[in-house]
Amino acid sequence: MTKVKLNTRKIKKRKLHLGKKPLSMLTCYDFQTAQLMDQTDLDLILVGDSVGNVVLGYDTTVEVTLQDMITFGRAVKKGAPQTFTVVDLPFGTYATVSSGLKNSIELFQKTKAEALKLEGASKTFLKLIGKLTDVGIPVMGHLGLTPQSVHQQGGYFTHGKTTPEEVKIMREAKALEEAGCFALVLECVTPKLAKRISEELTIPTIGIGSGVDTDGQVLVINDLLKMGPLRPPQFCQPVADFFELKRQGIEIFLNDVQKEEKDSDGSSRVSQ
Ligand code: KIV
Repeated sequence: MTKVKLNTRKIKKRKLHLGKKPLSMLTCYDFQTAQLMDQTDLDLILVGDSVGNVVLGYDTTVEVTLQDMITFGRAVKKGAPQTFTVVDLPFGTYATVSSGLKNSIELFQKTKAEALKLEGASKTFLKLIGKLTDVGIPVMGHLGLTPQSVHQQGGYFTHGKTTPEEVKIMREAKALEEAGCFALVLECVTPKLAKRISEELTIPTIGIGSGVDTDGQVLVINDLLKMGPLRPPQFCQPVADFFELKRQGIEIFLNDVQKEEKDSDGSSRVSQ
């Protein structure tokens, strides 16, 4: 199968209300999984800074560094040349327009990704998005639950439950579109608000824990395949149990190693 690679022009047209197919995006952090994703119809790969939580064992994504994202982004892009790949700008690397510009150029060049993603819609970020698109770096926005601001937001919860919050998120979504984002992730936003934003924006929205009416869906692959010991978030119904599968694989190996072996002289021994 030859995969038709997406680009920002094609992605921007993928609006559900225009009768288009929903966009599919999964996170990926390694070369081999990227190779597999490249063989599927998956529309977009996200090298999310969730790599900090699920691969590096950090407590929050606040600990993720630019070098972390360069390392994982490069590996993924190498494995998935045919899949439009977005890499997260990590916490603190875009605190000012000038540092954001410098770090984005380095991340974009070194990973060879097709786009970068950043969280929030402050005045600084809106200005930065304008500069990045000017230099040719496509930007995906991210609103609602923005894990890099977990301490500022006061935990992980659903956003847009009150009218003032709805108004604020809608205003920010429009500002991100205006600033030049080609798509917008809505994380843990009420389904009602996610639907309204999706209808009012011309760029596609990609939801996670935000209902079914966004223009696309994204999940963390480790949640989808249940790769860890804990239950994935409520909104993610795992399709497999890789944690148990790996346990079984390790146990098969242990049994094989421990079973009776023949010594070269023909006598038997238990290797352990
Ligand atoms: O880092 C990440 O995995 C993300 C998704 C949850 C959208 O930003």
